[in-house]
Amino acid sequence: MADLTSEYLGLSLNSPLVASASPLSRDLDNIKQLEQCGAGAVVMFSLFEEQCVPSRPNNGRGPWSALDDHSYTLSPSEFYMTPDRYVDHVHAASHVVSIPIIASLNGARTDRWIQRAGLLERAGAAAIELDLYSIVIDPNVSAAEVEDRYIELVEAVREVTTLPLTIKLCPYFTALPAFVRRLEAAGAEGLVLFNRLHQPQLDAVAQKMVMFPTLSNSNDSRLAVQWIGILHGTSQSSLAANGGFHTLEDVLAGLMAGASVIELCSALIAHGVEYTSTLHSQLDAWLDANSYAGVSDIVGLMSLERRGDEDEFLRSGYARVLTRHW
Ligand SMILES: Cc1cc2nc3c(=O)[nH]c(=O)nc-3n(C[C@H](O)[C@H](O)[C@H](O)COP(=O)(O)O)c2cc1C
Repeated sequence: MADLTSEYLGLSLNSPLVASASPLSRDLDNIKQLEQCGAGAVVMFSLFEEQCVPSRPNNGRGPWSALDDHSYTLSPSEFYMTPDRYVDHVHAASHVVSIPIIASLNGARTDRWIQRAGLLERAGAAAIELDLYSIVIDPNVSAAEVEDRYIELVEAVREVTTLPLTIKLCPYFTALPAFVRRLEAAGAEGLVLFNRLHQPQLDAVAQKMVMFPTLSNSNDSRLAVQWIGILHGTSQSSLAANGGFHTLEDVLAGLMAGASVIELCSALIAHGVEYTSTLHSQLDAWLDANSYAGVSDIVGLMSLERRGDEDEFLRSGYARVLTRHW
C-alpha cells in the first residue's frame, strides 16, 4: 500500500483528496462518510460576506444588478444558515471527525464580517479558506485597486486568526505570480486554484437572467494544472488544485503539476461522497503499480520548474496548438 499522506498548509493529511466547499458539507453524516471514504479534509460551504453585512437597496440596474459589486441585494435570510449557526456547525463538524475541517469565508471587502474568522478558530476549524471574488463593472476602478482591496482583506483576516490561511482565487488575474507574491506577503500560506465561477444564463425568451450552478468536466482541470505547474517551486504556498478534477488521471495531473491536494466538488455531487473511496483506491493502486512509495514522490514531478520546458506552459504552446492542429 502506498503512502497517501500529503502536507497541506502545515497539516498532515491522510490523503490528498479533499472535499471542496459545497452543500454536501451541510450534513454531518456526509462529513463522517467523507472521512470513512478516505477524504484528507473537508472544506465547509462558505460563510458569505453578504450574510454578515446588512443588505442595501437594489441600485436599479434591473436584471443586471446581480453583477454589481456594490449592491448587496441579498438578504441574510436567503442563506442556508445564520453566521452564528455556521460557527456552531463548524464546531459540530470538527468534533464528529478527526480529519481537519477547513472553514470557508467568501467575500471581497474588509469589514467587521471577517471577525468571524476568530470565532471559527475557537470553534475548532483547522484552517481558513478565504474565497476572493467580485465583479467590477465601474470603469474608474483599475485591476490594481481590486488587487489592493483583496490584499487588504487578506491582511485583515490574517490579523484575526492564527489558523493557516489559504486563498481561493478565480482565474482572471493578468499577472498571477506577482499577485501570489503579494498574497504571501499579506499572510497567505496556501492557494486554491481555481474557483469555478457561475455566469448567469440570459433567457432570451423570458428576457431575464437566470442563475443556476453547473457541474464541471475533466477538461476544465487544465486551467488549474497549467497554473499550478507554473507556480510550483516559485511560490512558497501550499497549492490545492480545484475545478474539473473528476478522474484518477485528473488527480494525477494536479499532483504532478505541483498540488499537494485536490479539491473535489462536481465529482462528489455527481457520484456521491463515496466516490472519494473509488479515487482513493485507484490512486493507491496506481502509485503501487508505478513503483512510487507515496504521493509526495509525484507532487511537482511535471511542474515547469522540474521539467524546464516552458514551451508547453507558455505562449508558444498556445500558438502551436492553434497552428498545428486541424
Ligand atoms: C452547488 C455548488 C455550491 C458551491 N458552494 C461553494 C461555497 O459555498 N463556497 C465556495 O468557495 N465554493 C463553492 N462552490 C465551488 C466549489 O467548491 C468548487 O470550487 C468549484 O465547483 C470547482 O470545483 P469542481 O469543478 O470540482 O466543481 C460550490 C460549487 C457548487 C457546484
